[in-house]
Amino acid sequence: MAKITFVKEKKTIEVAPGTNLRKAALENGVQVYWGFHKNFPFNCMGFGHCGSCNVLITKGEDNVSRPGLWERFRILAGPLLFFWRIGNEKKLRLSCRCQVEGDVEVETTPTHNWHGERFWG
Ligand code: FES
Repeated sequence: MAKITFVKEKKTIEVAPGTNLRKAALENGVQVYWGFHKNFPFNCMGFGHCGSCNVLITKGEDNVSRPGLWERFRILAGPLLFFWRIGNEKKLRLSCRCQVEGDVEVETTPTHNWHGERFWG
């Protein structure tokens, strides 16, 4: 079993290796979307198109699947995700494109910390 610790929510869950990170979070009451993106049609329901399910893998980034071509393209093509990726190249992931293989720590909705230390500096 792999442990996923959601840092902001202070919640740890155990999942089978290969479990989708977005699915595991939502099934356990952890929200990966911010604001109006919580509801369809303002998110793509896990198809990797909207980019709103982004998370930071704060610990154990080698314990998740490697980002595929589409995920890398989506992050680079998104104007905000492109800039938020800087300095977090291995950590910023789309949770719907990410399979958990081992223990990880995850920060949800990291890119909407508009007044946090990371945004301005
Ligand atoms: S849910 Fe839209 S990119 Fe993940």
